[in-house]
Amino acid sequence: MLSKRIPASHEPNAWAAALASRRAAGGAVLDLAEFDPTRTGLGGADTEVLSALADPRGARHSPDPRGLRGAREAVAAYYAGRGLAVDPDALVLTTGTSESYAHLFRLLCDPGDRVLVPAPSYPLFEPLADLESVRLGRYRLAYDGRWHLDLDSLARAAPGARAVVLVQPNHPTGTCLDGAEWAEVERMCLEHDLSIVSDEVFGDFAWDGRASGLPSATAVREAPAFVLSGLSKVCGLPQLKLGWIALAGARHRAERARGLEWIADLFLSVGTPVQHALPRLFVAGEAFRGRALARIAANRTRLAQAVARAPSLGVLRADGGWVAVLRVPDRRSDEEWALALLARGVVVHPGHFYDFDRDGHLVVSLIVEPATFDAALRVVEEVVESAP
Ligand SMILES: Cc1ncc(COP(=O)(O)O)c(C=O)c1O
Repeated sequence: MLSKRIPASHEPNAWAAALASRRAAGGAVLDLAEFDPTRTGLGGADTEVLSALADPRGARHSPDPRGLRGAREAVAAYYAGRGLAVDPDALVLTTGTSESYAHLFRLLCDPGDRVLVPAPSYPLFEPLADLESVRLGRYRLAYDGRWHLDLDSLARAAPGARAVVLVQPNHPTGTCLDGAEWAEVERMCLEHDLSIVSDEVFGDFAWDGRASGLPSATAVREAPAFVLSGLSKVCGLPQLKLGWIALAGARHRAERARGLEWIADLFLSVGTPVQHALPRLFVAGEAFRGRALARIAANRTRLAQAVARAPSLGVLRADGGWVAVLRVPDRRSDEEWALALLARGVVVHPGHFYDFDRDGHLVVSLIVEPATFDAALRVVEEVVESAP
């Protein structure tokens, strides 16, 4: 009766079922897989910020498919604050990055076309692509003391594909392409007429004071590129449901802009009050980013101390973001480690959720409250050090 795009089974996997039954039984949980800033005491919205949504201009509906001009100017000003040039006319507002992906899959692909995504990376790509009848191809990121792009895997996958998704910094590896890798991706995209879709939701969260910030595809000049971000991460406001797509690169520019505007016009999905509130939300966002970066730095220090205490525990090197990848012994599968930790009340994501190519990885959030982070890490140390 239903479309083949809808999963045949909605049964949770073993880990999700174990977590649900622990919660149902009222068992205590130390959640290292909490990525929502509104649930870790970091959220960007106090009463003053929320009052921006009561702007009287919000009473009137006068939609623009790309988003209201004033809201697009506010997004452009945010980029200008990062030293990046984005024209308000090159922006299309959406209800968040998931909708941005859906729009771009519709814009760039016919049913059955292929889009390339990194592995390991963000697990939502698969259902989002399925829903638009798009197939995923994978290129690999490889770790040898630092993550880098496996160019051969990208070169093999590129012919015939429609787009390459980059996540900068990537979730969960926390890494960005270096200059040479960027140049090669752009060259390949021009050669095979692929679009670059650059997910930069974590682009403000550079670690260790990288003065130059993290790379952005807003600077792409020639290749057809789209940059995605939104209020969820930039301002800690996932509940306000506003994201954007910025067009970059000269190739097919006018045609891409027209097509995207046509799609956005069918939905007109972004609410008016949040668009009028945007300039004030960006002001509040600055303070949010300061709080989040301080929390992340403190939790990274705690993690480094745990790794120093526990010889079986490691942490992979990264450039930024909200996530850390822990290295654990591969004598057990990631799922077994995650289940063993859950039995002790600690929630972590097993690496296979993110398509790591081998066991030995657990993924933890760095925006968790410090007391929870500390208590959970102690359990992780104990379990990893004592388990056979
Ligand atoms: C890489 C990446 N892209 C997009 C999103 C979702 O962003 P939004 O809330 O704007 O849909 C997330 C959420 O964690 C993410 O990790």
